[in-house]
Amino acid sequence: MTATKLVETENSDGGKDDSYFLKHKYQDKSLEELQLLLKDETISKNQKKKIKKQINWLETADERKELRKKRKIEYKERNKLNGTKKRKLEKVSTNENFGANYHVAIDASFNDLMDNRDIKKLAKQIGWCYKENRRSVCPVQYHMCGLNGRLKGAMDPSHENWDLHFDADVLKQFEKDNLVYLTAESDNILSNIDRGKVYIIGGLVDHNHEKGLCQKLCVEKGIATARLPLGENINIKTRKVLTVNHVFEIILAFLELQDWKAAILKVLPPKKLPNQDGDKLTKAPGLLCETNQHHIEIKSEE
Ligand SMILES: C[S@@+](CC[C@H](N)C(=O)[O-])C[C@H]1O[C@@H](n2cnc3c(N)ncnc32)[C@H](O)[C@@H]1O
Repeated sequence: MTATKLVETENSDGGKDDSYFLKHKYQDKSLEELQLLLKDETISKNQKKKIKKQINWLETADERKELRKKRKIEYKERNKLNGTKKRKLEKVSTNENFGANYHVAIDASFNDLMDNRDIKKLAKQIGWCYKENRRSVCPVQYHMCGLNGRLKGAMDPSHENWDLHFDADVLKQFEKDNLVYLTAESDNILSNIDRGKVYIIGGLVDHNHEKGLCQKLCVEKGIATARLPLGENINIKTRKVLTVNHVFEIILAFLELQDWKAAILKVLPPKKLPNQDGDKLTKAPGLLCETNQHHIEIKSEE
């Protein structure tokens, strides 16, 4: 069959573009078949170019295989030299010494306020928090409060084996006096992270539709609130409402670096930290150097 015929057949079958099918048809052909096609005078110059490309691809297959092997060996050697073996992660969760540990909880009681897309986003964010906490040099006791329904269904299937606390609803699980609910609207600025306190993050992806909701609920229930010291450390142009995982990661980074500015800059993505007024953002190992003034644009919470 000539290539031209092939185009006609495939187009009537699937309605896809000619080059799509031809490209794939040539990929299935042997070297001999391709060389025969090259001699076919009814095949256009353009198609012959593609055939030649495919021939070249087949002829260099062994070379590529060798290269892959070589790279694999080099990679293993390099890791041996650096001593970089996959770090075995220590178990983090413990029910002992509550007062001596740092605690961060996610309040998963807002399922009814989210559609399935936002529930999925939240499930991902919760997973990212988990990964970051496991890898952190200063991990916290991570509590999931009231995980159920659609959110539980959207979680990574392995979550039930995760090394974290699956707890009851916030107020059932903890003493009210131990709680600090983090909300962007709070009048209180978070200055430190205290051992034995539980810092709660609202499990919500709401695109700002539920502005001030957590703050309002806390006032009603008499729960203490605090906001991250964003404006105090960087110049924020727009919204100060962050995603669940960014809030979680800033807390982890603060525990590690003991510096809010460095923690915030370490976590927020560079695209949200445009250098302005000749600002220089230089990275030191695990730490961002002091800069004069950072203008950050926090666009949205997802
Ligand atoms: C996407 S926000 C949800 C916003 C929601 N409208 C509310 O009422 O909180 C997810 C959670 O991250 C935390 N959060 C976001 N920005 C914060 C900030 N600037 N300071 C403290 N907590 C913040 C809050 O716990 C918040 O509930």
